[in-house]
Amino acid sequence: MMERMLEPELMDDPEQALVYSKADFEEENQGFVDRFREYYPDLTQGHVVDLGCGPGDIVIRLACASPNLRITGVDASGPMIDLAEKAVAEKGLADRIQFRRERFQTCIVDPADAVISNSLLHHVPNPLQFWYAAKNLAMPGARVLVMDLLRPGSFDEAQAIVDRYASEEPATLRRDFLNSLLAAFTEDEVASQLAELNLSRLLIDVPDDRHWIVGGRL
Ligand SMILES: C[S@@+](CC[C@H](N)C(=O)[O-])C[C@H]1O[C@@H](n2cnc3c(N)ncnc32)[C@H](O)[C@@H]1O
Repeated sequence: MMERMLEPELMDDPEQALVYSKADFEEENQGFVDRFREYYPDLTQGHVVDLGCGPGDIVIRLACASPNLRITGVDASGPMIDLAEKAVAEKGLADRIQFRRERFQTCIVDPADAVISNSLLHHVPNPLQFWYAAKNLAMPGARVLVMDLLRPGSFDEAQAIVDRYASEEPATLRRDFLNSLLAAFTEDEVASQLAELNLSRLLIDVPDDRHWIVGGRL
């Protein structure tokens, strides 16, 4: 099994953030929101926190789908939060969506009824900090939905995934996708992280060839 290769924690290069915000993540991001609503149909109001929210696409999709939710997006990349705030203002959703320009490790928000996160964990050098923050920011019994990439078995397999799913994308995005796959965790590593923090009510699933998803209540 290939060792994890870290990539920079924050996506704070303005060009990188812009390219990322323009990429087509419709299937992945809408799929994430649909899954959240399918897992937790009872959560029609309350506060949701999105860790590593990037340019805010998932936050906006969730706010549109669930008009009584209040959402806080947390990201320590200034360029990402600039793009997210602009997108939210354009959709007229600023009364229900707020952003925090901070690292999740030090961020304090109103207690959350749900913590969500997509494609953040592979950026984080110490993954236990992420699960610890998710637990701390949430109310007891809060819902969790976290999705990220799976680390392939070899560099060649990672390159093959990039070629399969991103051959038409700009070079910056293909580079970032490859680096993200190399920095990602395996299913067993994520399961060990959950066990180490005693998050035994959260369950991991592998829905396709490049993602894992963790869901459940804290
Ligand atoms: C790959 S993007 C994912 C964005 C978004 N969740 C999505 O699905 O489109 C990862 C984001 O996590 C942010 N990030 C990485 N480490 C972070 C940290 N410690 N605290 C807050 N944000 C962080 C990066 O700046 C980047 O915007």
